[in-house]
Amino acid sequence: MKINNSAIQSIAKEYGTPSYIYDGDQLVKNYKNLVNALPNFVDVFYALKVNPNVSLVRLLRNHGACTEVCSITEMEIALKAGATPEDIIYLGPCKKDYELKRAISLNIFAIVVESEIELERVSSFAKDLGVVANVAIRINPDFSAEGSPWKMGGRPTHFGIEEQHAIQYFREYLNTPNVNVKGIHVYNGTNILEASSVYENTKYILGLYDKIVQMYNCKFTMVDVGGGMGVPYFNNQKELDIEEFKALMVPLFSKFNQKYPDTRIIMESGRFIAGTAGYLAVTVNNIKVNHGKTFLVTDGGTNCHSAAAGSGRVVKRNFPMQNISAPKDSTNRVVYQVSGPLCSPDDIIGRNMELKEAKVSDVLLVAFSGAYGPSSSPGLFHSHGFPSEVLMYQNKSYLIRESDTTLDIMNKQIMVDVQHHDELILN
Ligand SMILES: Cc1ncc(COP(=O)(O)O)c(C=O)c1O
Repeated sequence: MKINNSAIQSIAKEYGTPSYIYDGDQLVKNYKNLVNALPNFVDVFYALKVNPNVSLVRLLRNHGACTEVCSITEMEIALKAGATPEDIIYLGPCKKDYELKRAISLNIFAIVVESEIELERVSSFAKDLGVVANVAIRINPDFSAEGSPWKMGGRPTHFGIEEQHAIQYFREYLNTPNVNVKGIHVYNGTNILEASSVYENTKYILGLYDKIVQMYNCKFTMVDVGGGMGVPYFNNQKELDIEEFKALMVPLFSKFNQKYPDTRIIMESGRFIAGTAGYLAVTVNNIKVNHGKTFLVTDGGTNCHSAAAGSGRVVKRNFPMQNISAPKDSTNRVVYQVSGPLCSPDDIIGRNMELKEAKVSDVLLVAFSGAYGPSSSPGLFHSHGFPSEVLMYQNKSYLIRESDTTLDIMNKQIMVDVQHHDELILN
């Protein structure tokens, strides 16, 4: 962890904990590392699902990132951050009617259609609006990405249209009124650390594009090959070799670009860009020994950071963590169970975690927390609400989200004082 501990301590003091702290310099660096490993005719779309904070999106946008959104709120955040409709794609398996209508009227670069029913819906809304909507067809291929712990394609999922079915019915997609089928989209898996796996996956998708173009003699203008580039959360993992990635991807894309110079090539990325650029700061509230284990009870656990707690994983492994309040020269290390505030035995964000000896009020920092933090955590569990978010950039810090207050949560609830009438009870 390269981040300055005393800066974090003062942020934790100023804004309280639990708090997400983002390293904006690292965020931009990660984005640039990816962009520099790709030819300049490939566009990187930042996936807001991993972290939709408008200030982070703005920072990335200022450095040229396009945006991939999965809801109307993410779309409005992207627009607020400065994205132009030309640089937005919208996907997701359940788009609501009002969301589709908004995307169509904004004329975004592509609505990534995930089913035939959705294509019909887009067609009918575009007709009502008197426009032609830009779409891409999301395909769930007969190929799965090696090395991805979470596969979205190559197996039964609720994403996209099966490859064989899509190939058979593509003529109908192309003939659908009021839609302009710009090309195809495939997103096969996430957190891939092998460059060769991303390469094989991309090669398959480009081949699929070529196959459909040849079969239907259509003029496509986009291909979205997804991505899935990961970060090494755990001890035994190695980071994606970006030089190897570049050496494999540049010739692959260049060859494709020679054949299809008018096709916009899109790669999506969230985790690779934001993952290592964020930290969760929590404060030790209590220390106790229970059945032979020593617990550090902290003010933020699964409710703030379900990924660090291993939700959805069979084998739970620890994200890197530090006790940043312990003296620098402290050599006393203790094995802890680091828990959160929830009344759930699973609310553990560090299992058998060796840390510098901690005392009550110490601040612990969970690294690799920039992606899938608040956006994928059950922030309302126990009505704690979501934590604050702070951006550090070029030696300054900025509050970019206030933590939820009791009133924020209570104001959303509506108390109906339902009266009990005995005479209405029938038996
Ligand atoms: C369609 C799609 N795009 C982008 C992403 C972001 O992926 P990652 O976090 O691997 O960069 C995901 C993640 O699930 C996804 O499903």
